This record gives sequence, structure tokens and C-alpha cells, in this order.
Amino acid sequence: MNTVISVEELRHTISTWRNNAERIAFVPTMGNLHNGHLALIDAAKKQADRTVASIFVNPLQFGEGEDFETYPRTLDEDSSQLASRGVDLLFAPPVEVMYPQAQQLQTRVEVPDVSHILDGEFRPGFFVGVATVVCKLFNMVQPDLAVFGEKDFQQLYIIRRMVEDLQMPIEIVASPTVREPDGLAMSSRNNYLDAQQRQSAPLIHRALQQVADAIKRGEANYTQLESEAAATLEHAGFVVDYFTVRNVNTLNPAKAGESNLVILTAARLGQTRLIDNIIISQ
Ligand code: PAF
Repeated sequence: MNTVISVEELRHTISTWRNNAERIAFVPTMGNLHNGHLALIDAAKKQADRTVASIFVNPLQFGEGEDFETYPRTLDEDSSQLASRGVDLLFAPPVEVMYPQAQQLQTRVEVPDVSHILDGEFRPGFFVGVATVVCKLFNMVQPDLAVFGEKDFQQLYIIRRMVEDLQMPIEIVASPTVREPDGLAMSSRNNYLDAQQRQSAPLIHRALQQVADAIKRGEANYTQLESEAAATLEHAGFVVDYFTVRNVNTLNPAKAGESNLVILTAARLGQTRLIDNIIISQ
């Protein structure tokens, strides 16, 4: 696997593949890779001749008081995992390459409305930071397809909207959430949990599953299901930002009788914020 840090080197390698009409897949990450990321790589490799991964801890998507400084940076271990998984090229730019101007002067990409609900409400500026960096990375790599995890459901939704609105010729592929044996969705931030929090953390998935089962049985009082699930989590020590049943296509609050739903939650255990979701297609 070749590792590059400049846009020139990146474009040079990719242009040789393009000249051979090779199909290029891209997996953007912030590093500190786990099996969830490796599943994205596997999905990418299945659909392309060449796979590019990026590792960049994007300052633009971290709010004040969030964990930008302490976010785990594990480039050496990440590189060996990517190489053994068969990635062709790793792009690992420093901040000055991604943001040559002062960050406050950076042109931003905003997908309106949906960027300000759910996680966007609790993490102001987060999705503008994500859309901006992903748009820049897409312009640099110019992949045929890019793979994102369903665990970050709202992020996936926003990236799809950005690609559609900006008419980017890139196929967005969704990859299912990878879970620990006890159901906890894999996330780099799980490492922040202490032993007791780690024991409680899978409750988040269980609460989602219980609501999904209730909806599948025909229960349609979503408000009640949401508040009962949130209360269960709060009782177990979580601080719940939201627990909500939404229409999968619009992310609007679901109405009784709608059939394609997603149940989304974000909840904090101590300083660690966990998100998860379940998609229900009936
Ligand atoms: O999901 C992530 O790891 C990040 O939000 C992404 C898509 C790599 C953008 O920084």
C-alpha cells in the first residue's frame, strides 16, 4: 500500500488508474480503525478495481469542548490494518493540506434543514464540518463510489443529499453497522468507556431493538415508545439527547401508518456520547 500526504501525489497515482479505466472506491475515515471500518474497506473492494482510504481527523467537525485534541491518532496501526486488508492507497494529509487557509476562511458546504436536527441540534456545526471535508475529499479523490457506515445514519443521509444536490457523479454505498457480540455498535469512541460504562453501553442497542419489535407488532404510539425507551436508558445512567422514530426517507418524525422507519438515538455515558439506530422496513 502506498501512503501519500499531498493532493499532488494523490492525484498522480489516481490518474494512472483512471487512464487504465479502473473503477475507484473511496473510504474516508478519521483513523483509529476497528472492524466497522474494515467492513467498509471490504465493501469497497468488492465493487472496485482500486480502493483508496483516507485518515484525517477533521477539526471542522469538532465543536468547542469536544474531543478533537484527544481523539485517538493511531496512524501506524491503522496503516498496517489497511495494507493487510488490501487497500491500494492511503491518503493521510496534515491539516495544512486540507485547510491551507485559516479554518474560518474555508468555504463551507451545508445541506440545509437536516444538518440542524438530531445530532446537528446537539453538535452545532458538526454536519457542515462533515459535508465540507467529504466534499473536499471527493474533489481530491474523484472516486466512482464511496462507502459510509449505516451506524452514522444521519451522516450517510446528508452525504447522499450533498451528492445529489451538487450532482457529483459518485455512488454512495451504505454498509451495515458492525456490532460487538453484546450488540454495542463499534465506534472509536467506545474506547473512552470505563469498565462499568462498557457494561451498560449495549443497553442502547437493546432499547432500539425493543422499540423496533413493538413497532413490528403493530404498536403505533411512537411518542410513548420513545419516552419509555429514553426513560429506561436514563434509569440505567445514560443522559439521552434524543430517542426518536423517524421516516427513513425524510428524517421527519414518523407518523402512524408509515412503513419505512428508522429509530435513532444518541445518549451519553459520562463524557462519552454514543449513537446508534435501527432501520425498519415493513
Ligand atoms: O465518519 C467519519 O469518520 C467522519 O465523519 C468522516 C466521514 C470521515 C468525515 O470526517
